[in-house]
Amino acid sequence: MRISVIGCGYLGAVHAAAMAELGHEVVGIDVDERKIAALAAGEAPFFEPGLGAILRSATGSGRLRFSTGMADAADARVHFIAVGTPQSANGYAADVSYVDAAFDALVPYLADGALVVGKSTVPVGTAARLAARLAETAPHARLAWNPEFLREGFAVKDTLEPDRLVYGVDDPESTRLLDQVYRAAVEAGAPRIETDYATAELVKVAANAFLATKISFINAMAEIAEVSGADVTKLADAIGHDARIGRRFLNAGVGFGGGCLPKDIRAFTARAEELGRGESVAFLKEVDAINLRRRRRVVELALELLGGSVYGRTVAVLGLAFKPDSDDVRDSPALDVAVQLRGLGARVIATDPEAIANAQARHPQLDYTTSLDHALTGADLVVLVTEWHAFRALDPTETARHVTARRIIDARNVLDPTAWRAAGWTYRGLGRP
Ligand code: UDX
Repeated sequence: MRISVIGCGYLGAVHAAAMAELGHEVVGIDVDERKIAALAAGEAPFFEPGLGAILRSATGSGRLRFSTGMADAADARVHFIAVGTPQSANGYAADVSYVDAAFDALVPYLADGALVVGKSTVPVGTAARLAARLAETAPHARLAWNPEFLREGFAVKDTLEPDRLVYGVDDPESTRLLDQVYRAAVEAGAPRIETDYATAELVKVAANAFLATKISFINAMAEIAEVSGADVTKLADAIGHDARIGRRFLNAGVGFGGGCLPKDIRAFTARAEELGRGESVAFLKEVDAINLRRRRRVVELALELLGGSVYGRTVAVLGLAFKPDSDDVRDSPALDVAVQLRGLGARVIATDPEAIANAQARHPQLDYTTSLDHALTGADLVVLVTEWHAFRALDPTETARHVTARRIIDARNVLDPTAWRAAGWTYRGLGRP
């Protein structure tokens, strides 16, 4: 199948490479010349395990090309729109202008029988609006909505082996074409849900809203644990054994961040309000508020451990990415905590295996080091905020050799409090006694 992927960010670059890996002829299109040059040379423009390998093999074999010109999409049968839908500058709504611009730029190049497939996360109603536009401007083409559920850090695997396929379609031919694109996954038995546009759009935001709610639920329990002497990690284990609840996404800590969950729940709230059903998802405002409170809680703990003020004290911040195995710092709780501590006058030395360059571009006022030992040296307080493997594996006795004082905040609850306390540390987790 000849495929174009319009928008080569996290979603589009991975999708383009994965489609080529499955044997399709793919062209990736983006307006960013530097990004396109890197991708064409087989280099991943961001950190994503496994992406470099499939990019190199697919560009090397000629199955995957990249271009900045929409005309290069003209001979494709299926066109994926994978551009960003960021939070608007003036509110919570999603900014769909990139989707509209990509769609309008593509329309003149649509061949007879072409299928345009929306992958971007959009406010419900977008697909119907675009379908109406397509009916006027290119009635020989079709539209489908096919949300993507990939997780950063597992993006390649999630794209090659999706746990479900959702097709928002309005004719059987669209389904047939999507089945051809995803033949490998369909044959491997991935559940496939065929539905209308609105449901397909909502599936994506509903899934993210549920995940965000699950995290904020356990973080709310952490708040209660903190005033009652309970241990939220044990509580999560215990309730997680109930198969109806499940243990995954019940890790209490500094909360969720990244380019999806925070923005998606806000955009969902804004869209529901537009539709006159704001009250239906009003709880998502609480979900957001609980999430942001956890960041402040880490800062409060730092103040508490340092006797009421962090001014002039050296704080080693371990982690900048919003989660491990990613260099993404968009709405990162870790970076937020580092910036808040710096704002209170702390001397923050932050380290991260992959995200320093992205963090530095946004917050040049922090001190960064690639060396974990260097970050720890002379620290009055250590704050573990992103649970990279190297930080989870820290040895309390070895770590103590570098620091000035043995104080640690484990903002992801990944260390063993008993072992750290036994090595003379003042250990504080979130929602743990
Ligand atoms: C998410 C969805 O999982 C994915 O399906 C969707 O396509 C995009 O948004 P992603 O943002 O890559 O993916 O990360 P995810 O693994 O979902 O984690 C999101 C955030 O929640 C991270 O900041 C993570 O640290 C946090 N988290 C996750 C918790 O705080 N506790 C948990 O138990 C799980």
